[in-house]
Amino acid sequence: MKNKTVIITGASKGIGLACATLFYEQGANVALLDISPDKSGINDERWFYTACDVSKNNEVQHAIQNTHQKFGRIDFLINNAGIQRYGNVTDTAEDEWDLVMNVNLKSQYLCAKHAIPFMQQQGSGVVINVSSVQAFVSQQNVAAYTTAKTALLGLTRSIAVDYAPNIRCVAVCPGTIDTPMLRDSIALSPDPAAVMQECIDMHPVHRIGKPEEVAELIYFLCSDKASFITGQAFRIDGGLGITIAGSKKDS
Ligand SMILES: NC(=O)c1ccc[n+]([C@@H]2O[C@H](COP(=O)([O-])OP(=O)(O)OC[C@H]3O[C@@H](n4cnc5c(N)ncnc54)[C@H](O)[C@@H]3O)[C@@H](O)[C@H]2O)c1
Repeated sequence: MKNKTVIITGASKGIGLACATLFYEQGANVALLDISPDKSGINDERWFYTACDVSKNNEVQHAIQNTHQKFGRIDFLINNAGIQRYGNVTDTAEDEWDLVMNVNLKSQYLCAKHAIPFMQQQGSGVVINVSSVQAFVSQQNVAAYTTAKTALLGLTRSIAVDYAPNIRCVAVCPGTIDTPMLRDSIALSPDPAAVMQECIDMHPVHRIGKPEEVAELIYFLCSDKASFITGQAFRIDGGLGITIAGSKKDS
């Protein structure tokens, strides 16, 4: 990864921070775009934080241009920033719907729009869109989130087809991962411990995932070892959703 540059959105916490740390450890230049401050404590030429709301075109354009100016190339774009909001279509307010779409879907289009021209100049690049298992199966009360995450699979295919053969695009669809997003969502419940247990029980491997496990998959998909993979959605979910009612063994 030496002399390669990765842009990671939503990199101040959770899955994004795990990706940033892994790519940094492997020698890449890492550009972190996040609306929250970088609290990593890493102070290095190869660790470049920019405050950026990825749902805003001008902020994305500026951050990506700055990254290119600093490192001279953009090899990988990891479109990871996302927010979770709860509600069905009748109780989700229009502005809440728009917010979820803008942060979880429009941002990935905007970052691709501004990063891909630099990849085209170089003749190579990889875009990773972080979706969710909720692109395939859904819970109650996540209408906007599940819609955005499903649409990302279409965006992934479009980028893969439009910019082949030199630029690949792959979607990564995590199950429940232990991040601040998960902890914050669970804290909204009157019984967080019970909700956490429910999350664990949903996964046939009988645990939730770690951000570092998702980072390892993303790292592999960016590497040349994955050069024959494009346009696909990869689930990393401990088997969530593969069982049908009544098929669960007692543990
Ligand atoms: N944690 C899970 O269980 C899980 C499961 C499936 C998919 N995902 C997806 O993985 C991605 C990362 O999730 P996470 O759990 O690490 O979340 P997180 O909340 O722990 O971290 C998300 C990061 O995105 C940043 N962010 C939010 N809005 C932003 C904006 N407008 N502009 C720039 N940055 C913004 C936050 O500041 C934060 O640093 C998200 O797209 C999420 O939907 C998470």
